[in-house]
Amino acid sequence: MPNKKIYHYKSPIGIFDSGVGGLTVANAVVHLLPQEEIIYFGDTAHLPYGDKSPETIQRYSEKITQFLIQKGCKLIVIACNSASATAYDFLQEKYKQIKIINVIDPLIEEVIQHSFNEVGVIATKATVASKIYEKKITEKNKNTKIISLATPLLVPMIEEDFFENRISHAIIKHYINRDVFNDIEAMLLCCTHYPLIRKEIEKLFHRKIQVFDNSDVVAHQIKKYLEENNLLNPKKEKEHQFYVSDYTQSFEKATRLFYGELISLKEKLL
Ligand code: DGL
Repeated sequence: MPNKKIYHYKSPIGIFDSGVGGLTVANAVVHLLPQEEIIYFGDTAHLPYGDKSPETIQRYSEKITQFLIQKGCKLIVIACNSASATAYDFLQEKYKQIKIINVIDPLIEEVIQHSFNEVGVIATKATVASKIYEKKITEKNKNTKIISLATPLLVPMIEEDFFENRISHAIIKHYINRDVFNDIEAMLLCCTHYPLIRKEIEKLFHRKIQVFDNSDVVAHQIKKYLEENNLLNPKKEKEHQFYVSDYTQSFEKATRLFYGELISLKEKLL
């Protein structure tokens, strides 16, 4: 494939995740850039990515990247921390002809502006094992101490619609109320499912703490890239498209939680 390709501003933005969690990013994108068309792919047949090996996540992510390239996308957004941590470098190196944006770098750019002394990170097992947040933050601010914790119960809990209730409160408390987090000044929610429990997490800290998630910072990064490359679409002409690799009614129902409205999903096996 050629290294450089000229893209048309009317082309869609491709966004993918292991499932429906990445719709929090898609939602932030359509709010900030309402004139853009998006093609979303949720790899529900292979969910969760957070418990899988880097090689497997790379293999799944590559198939989706090829699909989004075939669909004529002008930009691809990895709306999943687990895939951003394990597959982004591999994909951008292999598919040089298209710009790929991950959810990690925009969040790090935002966080390093604050020069925090101690920062907490909660994420899936795959993201925590990659140590990517530690590496990238300390590269820029070597004095910042990062305390990471894998919180694998949170994704299934949110997908089952458990939040703002006694059960979600107990699970979140189990993870957050730990001595290691006593001195953090910021908590990074490094999974695209977690914006849904952001308020609950904020409430659990009995002191002022800054909580960050990926959604808005990624949407702003996309806007910046499109502006700088004259790729902003002045007028949306086509409808958004939402694909999943395994259709179930429960995934469709969950779109309301993550996207704010019910989406009709199309099944596409890769
Ligand atoms: N949305 C994914 C992330 O940001 C987590 C879900 C999964 O484990 O597949 O890491």
